[in-house]
Amino acid sequence: MPEYPDPAALAEIEARLKTHPPLVFAGEARALTSALAQVAEGKAFLLQGGDCAESFAEFHPDNIRDTFRVLLQMAIILTFGAAMPVVKLGRIAGQFAKPRTEERETRHGLTLPSYRGDNVNGIDFTQESRTPNPNRLMQAYAQSAATLNLIRAFASGGYADLHNVHRWTLGFIAGSPAGLRYKALAERISETLDFMEACGLTPEAIPQLRGTAFYTSHEALFLNYEQALTRIDSTSGDWYDTSAHFLWIGDRTRQLDGAHVEFCRGIQNPIGLKCGPSLTVDELLRLANTLNPENKAGRLTLICRLGADTVADRLPRLIQAISRQGAIVCWSCDPMHGNTIKSQAGIKTRPFDRILKEVKEFFEIHRAEGTHAGGVHFEMTGQNVTECLGGAQAISEEDLTDRYHTHCDPRLNASQSLELAFLIAEGLRAERMKDQRSAASG
Ligand code: PEP
Ligand code: CO
Repeated sequence: MPEYPDPAALAEIEARLKTHPPLVFAGEARALTSALAQVAEGKAFLLQGGDCAESFAEFHPDNIRDTFRVLLQMAIILTFGAAMPVVKLGRIAGQFAKPRTEERETRHGLTLPSYRGDNVNGIDFTQESRTPNPNRLMQAYAQSAATLNLIRAFASGGYADLHNVHRWTLGFIAGSPAGLRYKALAERISETLDFMEACGLTPEAIPQLRGTAFYTSHEALFLNYEQALTRIDSTSGDWYDTSAHFLWIGDRTRQLDGAHVEFCRGIQNPIGLKCGPSLTVDELLRLANTLNPENKAGRLTLICRLGADTVADRLPRLIQAISRQGAIVCWSCDPMHGNTIKSQAGIKTRPFDRILKEVKEFFEIHRAEGTHAGGVHFEMTGQNVTECLGGAQAISEEDLTDRYHTHCDPRLNASQSLELAFLIAEGLRAERMKDQRSAASG
């Protein structure tokens, strides 16, 4: 909990938030639970992605559009690879609060509170900016509402129509290797759509061609805000956190007797749990039981962020324990948070090949265990940033300072995101072909 100099002012803001409209409906959260149940059963794939931290400074319709369209492109690529529906879940419209390992930060002899996310304090290293200010919660709510409104319009107002598949490409990646591959894929899709239309399968007849379901998520970290937006759903009588469709518990706040687990236990939204290298099998089993006592499919997603070097050692035990217990979960891979390093100049970054290695091993391990590698979780942006090393653009340590804009962790840029989606899709497709061949020969 950040230290607010004026707790009464915080309480006043919380009271105001309680009178503000919900951002999402309980029925939408239930629809997402059903979609995630398909993931848990091995019939769908989850794509979750967006900023590490949204910021007030980067709030702009173009940024929202660009993140949205890269996610759409990644989803198309994965749909093709997996031959399965892809559940689209943004880290957007509410991803403001950040957990910090250090309470305070010292620079040149001056010690100030750490930056905790734009809904708490400012990133500038001054006393004024770093002092928690409750008015920021209102601004975060307003930005979330405006962002969500635009996303809803994009998702159902024509922009996400599959016939626009060519138009989602961002100018600066059109000529890159990933951009060219995407263009070829988009051409195949357009041809298929022409063929379908000739057969009478038109967008008027098939609403899935005209738009898409898109859901929002963020870390349930700042509980005062989450609680102010938690309401009883009049249809079911259950509690829902209406700040987003999906909330997750971070790796630093997943204590069984902690406030974050207690809060998430009480809401009916689908929940994620970050599983880092320090999570023991015993803790995981108890958390799964506490967070999903009825063992409902789609309720619990385990977001593993073990690190490229530890995943092979840790993941099999977690999977085996969950399978032995008979717990129904979605398994997702966050290859970002276990692979953060410092460049020689001291800049936080993530090498593309480490990210890819963790994803690949995640898929291989699930295949060996006979479980469904259900999804991926990325920190990414539609902008042309230089925050993660490598990829086809071969971003080097010297390039990092060119366009390093993140408010927290380094994100994949648009072309690295597409490249990764293609590499994952190839793996998914190869597995599918192998299964088909063995089914045919067996
Ligand atoms: C995050 O997802 O931004 C994050 C802080 O992750 P974790 O809790 O897994 O470290
Ligand atoms: Co992060």
